[in-house]
Amino acid sequence: MRKPMIAGNWKLHKTIPEAIELIEGLKKETAAVADVEIVVAPVFTALAAAAAAVKGSNIALAAQNCYFEKSGAFTGEVSPALLKDAGCSHVILGHSERRQIFGESNDLINRKVKAVLAEGLNAIFCIGETLEEREGDRMMDVLRSQVVDGLKNISAADMQRVVVAYEPVWAIGTGKTATGDQAQEAHSFVRGLISGLCGPDVASQTRILYGGSVKPDNVDGLMAQDDIDGTLVGGASLKVADFARIVAFEKN
Ligand code: PGA
Repeated sequence: MRKPMIAGNWKLHKTIPEAIELIEGLKKETAAVADVEIVVAPVFTALAAAAAAVKGSNIALAAQNCYFEKSGAFTGEVSPALLKDAGCSHVILGHSERRQIFGESNDLINRKVKAVLAEGLNAIFCIGETLEEREGDRMMDVLRSQVVDGLKNISAADMQRVVVAYEPVWAIGTGKTATGDQAQEAHSFVRGLISGLCGPDVASQTRILYGGSVKPDNVDGLMAQDDIDGTLVGGASLKVADFARIVAFEKN
């Protein structure tokens, strides 16, 4: 009932020619895939060229961030409208690197989510606890405020265009993946939070991706969990063979 999504977050990697090469490789390897939504998120400067490269394929294009204003005196920022203009259908928001390195708050992320939805785009809304928060027994509180504040005032109808990505910060880029049980526990908690906000129907339709050191050799175990509806992949999304294998996860 929830179509799996496998999204590649390329972070600050790949020139325009490298991005096109990766997309062309992925197109060949994933051409036959119809039952998984495939998304790639190159850097801003490669988006327009990437949009031309994915045209007519089953690969959708995401940006990694945006600002919430439409236009104006906001040097260095880019709006949802301009991302749409460049060919994006999705925007990743609230990634832990945005939260930690660039100081993004739940409130700012909420404004961005609303701006992306108002533009008719899809939001990939990221949440996740640090190791310190997990070990200090604060994981649930942190996830609660990220979800409740980050998704504040979003209608049930608009929630159809929100995909949540649970990415424990301690698992990102570290090679340490949450176990299937740890991830399932967090995902089912997050689904409960969404149910509290928007009701059980919306919660049961909302896709919750897992992210954090997802690799070809651990994706199957993660995807076997009831509440894991896909993955947000960093490092392993930069290689055609690895990302294609993650897209082709074993269903059971
Ligand atoms: P990783 O990154 O797969 O390299 O851990 C995931 C992410 O940050 O989205």
